[in-house]
Amino acid sequence: MKKILVTGGAGYIGSHTCIELLNSGYEVVIVDDFTNSVMEPVKRLEKLAGKKVSFHEVNLLDKEALDAVFKKEGKIDAVIHFAALKAVGESVAQPLMYYKNNISGSLALFEVMRDNDVKNVVFSSSATVYGDPEETPIKEDATVHATNPYGHTKSMMEQILMDTSHALGWGVILLRYFNPVGAHESGEIGEDPEYPNNLLPFVSQVAAGIREHVTIFGDDYDTIDGTGVRDYIHVVDLARAHVKSIERLTGFDKGTLIYNIGTGTGYSVQQMVETFRQVSGKEIKVVIGPRRPGDIAECTADATLANKELGWSAEYGLQEMIESAWKWQSKYPNGYRGAK
Ligand code: UFG
Repeated sequence: MKKILVTGGAGYIGSHTCIELLNSGYEVVIVDDFTNSVMEPVKRLEKLAGKKVSFHEVNLLDKEALDAVFKKEGKIDAVIHFAALKAVGESVAQPLMYYKNNISGSLALFEVMRDNDVKNVVFSSSATVYGDPEETPIKEDATVHATNPYGHTKSMMEQILMDTSHALGWGVILLRYFNPVGAHESGEIGEDPEYPNNLLPFVSQVAAGIREHVTIFGDDYDTIDGTGVRDYIHVVDLARAHVKSIERLTGFDKGTLIYNIGTGTGYSVQQMVETFRQVSGKEIKVVIGPRRPGDIAECTADATLANKELGWSAEYGLQEMIESAWKWQSKYPNGYRGAK
């Protein structure tokens, strides 16, 4: 494997993965249409890695343009497919937009891969495909039972890839991420949501004085302190799981491999907020609110399979996740907005 095409490479997880790929000696081609991203992280990741990527501003639904990228780039050994819409609430309100963008966009990509004889893909899936799991930590063979349109698009794309792998002899790795947080250690790239839907970016903005308080969505769950428990994973660890997946696909003939990517340790909302207070030294006001519809009590990964078969395990703990998130937030309070 030499040349890797990354869709959504300007996004949060994509940009961190591109740095790790460049650092591991791969050539990187990015396809991104800036739906939920900007060019700035691409410039910064090139600077951090001391290497250039080949960038193409293309929407996956524009099949002709996408095909031209594959033709122009020559031999692409594998694709890492991140580009997708990802807000659960928005997907409930606008399912057609989610199905069109995530499913039709992926279908166009996979057809272009087929037409250009590219047979390896690492797919950005999510623990969301497990829905409300019967037991935690969750193993990969747990029932797939997504509970919202976003989650359905992820499980449908998994199915499309499994069928395609079977029919066309592709090597496919489905990575089911738990809750990605944190930022690059330099503080130069990180998560940059305009309005944060997820816990940690929200807490960061409260610590930075941008928002007044965090609402805790329910404190009456059956968990250690009544608040929701999740398996938070440092985005750099997650990025490295993609590099390990590319290595795993090298010489792997055909078939689909599925791995959970998490630390195996769960933290409650209260624990996250408390650690953020300690790391930042800031007041973080919390207000207890009602449960958020669709939320579950607890979700943690059994990542034994990724440890064994990918040779991957999480290196960073909670402290590093929150320190890096706070470094990025304090260095760039407005994210990439206003960057030259
Ligand atoms: N939470 C709050 N207040 C907030 C935001 C979140 O109390 O302002 C709580 C939630 O109730 C939950 C925990 O913090 O208990 C984590 O919530 P996030 O929104 O950060 O993450 P989720 O676990 O809900 O969702 C994430 C991803 C989804 C993915 C899912 C898979 O955002 O894309 O994990 O489990 F599908």
